[in-house]
Amino acid sequence: MTAPLFTTIDHVGIAVPDLDAALAFYRDTFGIVSAHEETNEEQGVREAMLAVGTGDTRLQLLAPLDASSPIARFLDRAGPGVQHVAYTVEDVQSASALLRSRGLRLLYDQPRRGTAGSRVNFVHPKDAGGVLVELVEPARRA
Ligand code: CO
Repeated sequence: MTAPLFTTIDHVGIAVPDLDAALAFYRDTFGIVSAHEETNEEQGVREAMLAVGTGDTRLQLLAPLDASSPIARFLDRAGPGVQHVAYTVEDVQSASALLRSRGLRLLYDQPRRGTAGSRVNFVHPKDAGGVLVELVEPARRA
């Protein structure tokens, strides 16, 4: 049997057209509030990480910064909704290499900066049953 590659589900990424409207919806409808917000120019997104109860798994709301953002293209193609599933890994570089060795395509040659100083890469959805899979190596705590 294959050894487990993932520690936990880090977050579920949800594409939204308007971050502030989505934050208000989650807060007022489900009582789920934002734990962290940032703009990631490289990824072309404004994003928020929402904490659900006492669990560590987050919801990530992603809104496009402009029309060239991958999230803008996703919204055009599929509309608002679940965009990716992110798993926590110990080492994104070695996890990417292992998955490449199993024939999966990764979106980036080298990991890129994700939320809160994490390092991330993505598995092409065509190689993962139609799911865009994000690999997240959290920032090391000092
Ligand atoms: Co994500």
